[in-house]
Amino acid sequence: MFIPEEKISEILRTSDIVEIVSESVILKKSGQNYFGLCPFHSEKTPSFSVNSAKQIFHCFGCGAGGNSLSFIMKYHGLSFPEAARMLARKYNVVIDTQHLDPARKKQLALRESLLRINRKVMDRYQTHLQKDPAGHSARQYLENRGITSATLDEFHLGFALDQWEDMVGFLKKARISRQAALNSGLVKPRENRPGFYDRFRNRIMFPIFDINMQVAGFGGRVMDDQMPKYMNSPETPVYSKTRILYGLHAAKAHCRSQGGVHIVEGYFDFLTLYQNGIKNTVATLGTALTPEHVRILKGYAPTMILVFDSDAAGIAAARRSIQTFMNEGVETRILILPRGEDPDTFVLKNGPDAFLQQADNARSVMPFLRQVAMETHGSSVTGRARVLADILPYLADIQDSALRSLHINELAETLNIDEAAVLEKVREQVVKSKTTRDRRPDTEPSNSELSSDPRERQLLSLMLQWPHIISGVADSGVLDYFYSQTLSRIGQFMVQADPDPDAFVSRIMAGMETDADRDLVASLAMTDGLEDNTDLEDAAAAIIQRIIRIRKKNDSGLTAEIKRAEKCCDTDLMELLKLKQQEIRQLHNGQ
Ligand code: UTP
Ligand code: MN
Repeated sequence: MFIPEEKISEILRTSDIVEIVSESVILKKSGQNYFGLCPFHSEKTPSFSVNSAKQIFHCFGCGAGGNSLSFIMKYHGLSFPEAARMLARKYNVVIDTQHLDPARKKQLALRESLLRINRKVMDRYQTHLQKDPAGHSARQYLENRGITSATLDEFHLGFALDQWEDMVGFLKKARISRQAALNSGLVKPRENRPGFYDRFRNRIMFPIFDINMQVAGFGGRVMDDQMPKYMNSPETPVYSKTRILYGLHAAKAHCRSQGGVHIVEGYFDFLTLYQNGIKNTVATLGTALTPEHVRILKGYAPTMILVFDSDAAGIAAARRSIQTFMNEGVETRILILPRGEDPDTFVLKNGPDAFLQQADNARSVMPFLRQVAMETHGSSVTGRARVLADILPYLADIQDSALRSLHINELAETLNIDEAAVLEKVREQVVKSKTTRDRRPDTEPSNSELSSDPRERQLLSLMLQWPHIISGVADSGVLDYFYSQTLSRIGQFMVQADPDPDAFVSRIMAGMETDADRDLVASLAMTDGLEDNTDLEDAAAAIIQRIIRIRKKNDSGLTAEIKRAEKCCDTDLMELLKLKQQEIRQLHNGQ
């Protein structure tokens, strides 16, 4: 343990998993549990469950499970102590870092120093923009582009001076180490001589916030036609392009309340939409939309509108993103703006209502693909054949057969092709993609423990849910008879834990050393394992008895034979029998 156990307990007792998960997953109550779309694997129907009484989550689809701490770790990609500190901050639990081991402490210190540096730097850029005479042209530029001072303040826009060593000097003065400064990506080493220079010079600066309102990185735009037009922070331990979405920290509440999100490409697109009241918007910042982006967004909005420029690059980008959305099972529509416009210019010209009207008319994926393909290939005989070929892979990917046949029907009609012929082609394609899919590595949870005696799991389930029976289980000695080493180990761990039912499951999870063990505990805790009207003590006693009886019976034959062989000095036979005994045990352990 890197943080004292009582602190972990305190955090787990005071935090609320439903509240924590709700911040990133849309949950609906159903019976005792809350359900939502799993943020850890692609799925279209909710199999991710959160149980408030037990303070745990478990995904019936991918097997991921844990308590509020492990959720934070997995979701935000944090280490254990970082997650603990994040929750501690949120729930006002005080922990000091003295107990951390050196490696973790270093990692934690690195992230925290980067965030601290970034915030300082953000303030400095902002001061340059607002107060420095050199920031005048930048202020003018932003005004010309219609950005109000309220927006400048809310998103902390700034300005990097036209100097090579402004930031270098600032970081030095602020006593930031050379390594930390390099890590931040704000300065770069000079190529031909010692020393450093500023990455961002003479640019409008956009701080990029993560979901917790920390400054993860920066983007900077030139004010003329120089290249590159935009420059972003490099990947750092606190900035990952594949996860971060510009504006989400401000937009997330609006996405929830509107039930949808607009996904645009750039900083100005975001700012102009937001400033004009279309606040359920995020920007992807020049990278292709990743499955991680979509998974994160899914936690805030069930429907998404992808907004792209009408140029070829925009349409190509839209087509690329479609597969990601289809895989994630998100209801998506695609808005291609009139030629030559992006969201920023469109809204400045036509106002927000016109934009929303366009969004209302945005096409869903299939009609969009159809239209693009038809515009590309034309309506000649070969053109229509090409359209069909373009659309086939997408059709084959639709899992819902009714929906698929609807689309097939529509396509056949638009192309004026016999529906049966289209159907036949789709079938061929399905077979083709199925064989490629089957060759992919199996992503199903492979829990070898499932093959062991189900009673062992049942008993642990009961112990997890009713800790007061644990001492009785310990006294019976049944854990020593377990075939599954893992389950036995977890059982022993419970025997040693404080049996206070308050956050018991969650505290047990905190003591697990691997993700796999934690997932296992979650799944054990989620299965009730008790029929209605059965007495708990009776059920536990019956399971214990059965396990011990069966083990003794199975083992005694072999043990007796081993003893006999030992007596007759038949070492070969003895070894053989011992091996067999081991084999049987291993077989049951499934390892
Ligand atoms: P655009 O070139 O379409 O810029 O890039 P834009 O948003 O319309 O910019 P303005 O309106 O001319 O200022 C869209 C987004 O792609 C990223 C930026 O995030 C930009 O906002 N981008 C673009 C880069 O990261 N680097 C580039 O060189 C260009
Ligand atoms: Mn633009």
